[in-house]
Amino acid sequence: MEEREISQAVIRRLPRYYRYLGELLENGVERISSNDLSKRMKVTASQIRQDLNNFGGFGQQGYGYNVKYLYTEIGKILGLEENHNIVIIGAGNLGQALANYAAFEKRGFILKGIFDVNPRLNGVSIRGVPIRMMDELKDFVQNNNVEIAVLTIPKDKAIEVANLLVDNGVRAIWNFAHTDLNLPDHIIVENVHLIESLMRLSYNISRYNEEHSDKK
Ligand code: NAI
Repeated sequence: MEEREISQAVIRRLPRYYRYLGELLENGVERISSNDLSKRMKVTASQIRQDLNNFGGFGQQGYGYNVKYLYTEIGKILGLEENHNIVIIGAGNLGQALANYAAFEKRGFILKGIFDVNPRLNGVSIRGVPIRMMDELKDFVQNNNVEIAVLTIPKDKAIEVANLLVDNGVRAIWNFAHTDLNLPDHIIVENVHLIESLMRLSYNISRYNEEHSDKK
């Protein structure tokens, strides 16, 4: 069967569809038209139809979308029907904040371990998961089927630690350290930079201010 490449722009929008559909399901809504979904999500109905058509035949003329079906299919596309074991490397402010976020488990991301080099953190538990020292990392990753590592360590340590993780079988890195990791092609890296999101916010504030000063 011919596999159609789905654009990254569509993939980036899917989690939002997934969240809205999940909320509809929780509220007992069984089907929804692209127009209704459009009003709720503030995305045009044609964008919704175009995005969802990528996956073929989810909508039916005059019926709309079957919420449960669409939710399940998008979940499959996002790989959420399987659990993913994760470890967090760096149990400082950010690492601990992420470790405290229980919604990961709800989506199938299972926090297996937390690692740091600071001996004062050794054995401290976050939501029942103890912080371990880095000398245990290698064995732990190999024995616990760890797929994803979250990097919340200083940037000058990030590359070395990422290589160690990859050498021991980790397949994907959720990288918060402000550095590019340059890992082999088969390793999946998602960089997260909150400051970039703030810069977009700042850009939009400036743009809004400019537009409104024109109208005066
Ligand atoms: P932090 O200083 O509170 O925590 C860093 C932790 O990493 C410490 O507990 C430290 O002992 C540990 N660590 C240092 N070297 C290590 C190594 N080789 N192996 C394992 N653990 C090690 O810092 P914070 O605020 O939690 O930030 C962590 C990192 O995340 C920094 O690189 C920071 O720049 C970055 N960051 C990124 C954000 C983003 O949006 N991408 C937002 C906030 C922070």
